[in-house]
Amino acid sequence: MRKKIVAANWKMHLSFAEAMALTDAFLHGLDDSGGLEVLIAPPFPYIHEVLNGIQRHPLISVAAQNCSEHNNGAYTGEVSAYMLASVGVEFVITGHSERRKYYGDIPEVISRKVDRILEHRMSPLFCCGETLEDRNSGKHFDVITGQIRNSLGHLSVENMKSVVIAYEPVWAIGTGINATTKQAGEMHRFIRNLLSEIFSDDVSSGTSILYGGSLKPDNATELFSCEDIDGGLVGGSSLRATEFLTICRAMETACSR
Ligand code: PGA
Repeated sequence: MRKKIVAANWKMHLSFAEAMALTDAFLHGLDDSGGLEVLIAPPFPYIHEVLNGIQRHPLISVAAQNCSEHNNGAYTGEVSAYMLASVGVEFVITGHSERRKYYGDIPEVISRKVDRILEHRMSPLFCCGETLEDRNSGKHFDVITGQIRNSLGHLSVENMKSVVIAYEPVWAIGTGINATTKQAGEMHRFIRNLLSEIFSDDVSSGTSILYGGSLKPDNATELFSCEDIDGGLVGGSSLRATEFLTICRAMETACSR
């Protein structure tokens, strides 16, 4: 049975007080999150306090939004996987389209980040997604294939068991335009087949593949009804407790079916 995960990517939002209030609201709203794993990805300065806050909750873990491709050393401003693991972080987002676009996270860099994350026994939450231009020119499957092969293709089957994938079409992130259930379902199935081709049938059937991109309370139920969608990576709606909790409940309902 694949893990069902809903992750809150807070990006570069919220003051410390707001972040802690939101953490509290998640804690209180998720008492009965049967079978669902919830991740909170706060900005770096809040990670430690969010970790303290969630100690009381067995189903919530913390994800970092990024890490360095290097181990420790003279890299001013960077945060290493070693540091994140040492405070109790369990997941690290990597390959997010905003990092690819603004911070030079090319496939080779992402691949090194994936290695660092795994070396420190955390799970990479690896994002992939095509631009609108890619989709309109019919290249979306090739783009996703390239992103997965270039950044994950070198991993062993054993290491792949720690990887979670998020399919996030770039044109759907923060735009209010989500992929349709048909588009998302088709891509998730494609990714699953690709995992089987590159790694093994076990990796293919065991890897959680989340959908991200304008996931909201009013589209979550339909997207989560899709067999190959194992949860969501939520940006905007994760900044509002009621919206995020509604999305989590939609996934719980989908799990119980
Ligand atoms: P969004 O962001 O939900 O605001 O579209 C998703 C993401 O970037 O992870």
